[in-house]
Amino acid sequence: MTSPDPPSASAAGRSQTGSCGAILGIESSCDETAAAVVTDGRVLSSVVASQHELHAQYRGVVPEIASRAHAERIEPIIAEALGQAGVGPWQLAAVAVASRPGLIGSLLVGVSAAKAIAWATGARFLPVDHLRAHLAATELAPVGLPPPPPPALPALGLVVSGGHTSMSIIDAPGAPLRTIGSTRDDAAGEAYDKLAAILGLPYPGGPVVDRLAAAGDPARFELPLARLGPGSLDFSFSGLKTAALYLRRGLAQAGPLDHQTLCDLCAGFQRAAVGALLLKLGRALDQHPACVSVLIGGGVACNSALRAGAADLARNRGLALRIPPPEFCLDNAAMIAAAGAHALHAPATADDLAASASPTAPRAG
Ligand code: KG4
Ligand code: ZN
Repeated sequence: MTSPDPPSASAAGRSQTGSCGAILGIESSCDETAAAVVTDGRVLSSVVASQHELHAQYRGVVPEIASRAHAERIEPIIAEALGQAGVGPWQLAAVAVASRPGLIGSLLVGVSAAKAIAWATGARFLPVDHLRAHLAATELAPVGLPPPPPPALPALGLVVSGGHTSMSIIDAPGAPLRTIGSTRDDAAGEAYDKLAAILGLPYPGGPVVDRLAAAGDPARFELPLARLGPGSLDFSFSGLKTAALYLRRGLAQAGPLDHQTLCDLCAGFQRAAVGALLLKLGRALDQHPACVSVLIGGGVACNSALRAGAADLARNRGLALRIPPPEFCLDNAAMIAAAGAHALHAPATADDLAASASPTAPRAG
């Protein structure tokens, strides 16, 4: 398959300057339509259109609504990201896109857009693992600022989001994740969202539960912290969610919840949920002593207690800790471009454009 020639004016611009190394990132795996431009690790633009308002009434993401909204929004979002960055499509060195895991209808919208741009402009097409990208976000600084130096490897990575909770080892820049633990039921963010639903709080629940927990007494309600087996690196949040549900029901019999009780419930939940994440991080570091850094990504990495607890844990062990700025913890496309940058060094092949979307993560290595 050959690409069409660029329009003459743009072609002249590209031939004079050559590729500027700009990577367009595209994210559409769940309920955020996002595009970003990253050059040499520096984020030039990052545009995110959240669909929260479309899914809020269902208290979770409805796949068909998500893919339709992506299809409507993807073109203007990409145009806005390129415009803010001042980069024309013909100047792109590559188009990176989240191709797995995620909602298949949603993924296909981003992958189709990325392939079309890559084919039309001759830019490289780089399919990216969304989970790997959440950890690549630790290489980013806020828009316009120079990137931090790359994290020291090998590193322990924790991805905590609304759809995923897993730990892995990163051996080399761009190497596939070596998964060492994952959730057996709910994802951490999903548990926060379900607690919010139980308490009648808005979706997504993580930010509001985190805020209320800060004003609560974590010792008032003892909620279960899932340790699983003594050496287990897996997670489980469904027992915590059920315990919170029964507690809420019991309290409801005594009348409506007052604000302090709501805060105390959120604080008890946060102590158990974040406690489990920190416990498993500690265990993983015991079992993988070669790790010199800890990388944490995903929406739950915005959590105040997790950020503070992980900082203590890393300091006590003399390890470097990397958590992205909050805007790059949540789903975004700058992280997709950052992950794509690792793949850019591998030689292009004739069938690069044959890669497709997949709802599942790659097999654990
Ligand atoms: O990474 P993300 O934007 O999307 C997925 O890939 O799932 O993560 C969204 C999740 C939601 O479940 C949301 O409730 C959670 O991240 N979240 C938080 C906080 N901010 C967002 N969870 C706990 N504390 C927070 N401060
Ligand atoms: Zn995500």
